[in-house]
Parts: sequence; C-alpha cells; structure tokens
Amino acid sequence: MNDATETIHERFEEDHGQLHALLGRIDWARPEEARAAFEAFALRLDRHIAWEEEVLFPVSLRALPGLDRRAVAALEEEHLRLRARLARTREALRAGDPAAGALGRELAAALAVHGAEEERTLYPACDARLPPAEQRRVLDVIRAGENGV
Ligand SMILES: [Fe+2]
Repeated sequence: MNDATETIHERFEEDHGQLHALLGRIDWARPEEARAAFEAFALRLDRHIAWEEEVLFPVSLRALPGLDRRAVAALEEEHLRLRARLARTREALRAGDPAAGALGRELAAALAVHGAEEERTLYPACDARLPPAEQRRVLDVIRAGENGV
C-alpha cells in the first residue's frame, strides 16, 4: 500500500519488512555478491533511520501529546548501536572475514527487536494521537524522498 490512506504505522512497518527482506536474502557464502547486496541494504537502512531521526522523531517530540521523551532517546541510542553493527559487518565483509555472516545475522536480530519496539509503541501512538496535519507532513516528506533510493 502506498496511497493517501496509508498510516505512519503501515508505511514504516512496510519499510521494516523490506529491510529484513534485503538483509535476509544476502548470501554470505558469496562475498562479492554479498558486498553489493549489503551496500544496497545499508543505503535503505540509512534512509529509514533518516526518516525517523529527521522527520518522525522531531515531529513526535513537538506534536505528540504525552510522548515519553526518554523512549525516543532510547530509540536514537539503538540507532547508534545498529549503525555500529552495520559498520562491523561491512568491515568483515570487505576483509573477507567469514564472521561477516554471523555479524549480519546479529544485525538482523537487533534490527528485528528495535523495529518491533517501534511498531508496538511509537508508530501506533503517532497514528492515534499526532494531529492529522502532522501525520500528513511526515508521510509527505517520506513520499517526496522515496523516489531516490
Ligand atoms: Fe528506528
């Protein structure tokens, strides 16, 4: 779904699904292909985190009544840890280290936990309590940037 009736929860959850699909289909036993596939995933993860840190979190902090600011700070800290895992996996892949596959699977597991938390807390709160104009603003910014990657 990608139309005017789509909610923040649906849009972000769909992106989580695409991220998992991209990471999950990497064949770690074939390093050359894995490196290219991993960079495609990394671009998409960067985009997803940018949607959150540059759009969704600031709008939520400004306009979501009753938002727990510490919860948003915790999600931002998890993004830092995800980026660190991404960097370690990339390094291992580039070095031809056979540990790359295990690191990639750990990254997928950490991403799943983080995504599930967002899907359980922030996204439904945004759909339920963010003023409609702010919901539209978030989705419009995301749609405008979607065509590039
Ligand atoms: Fe996130």
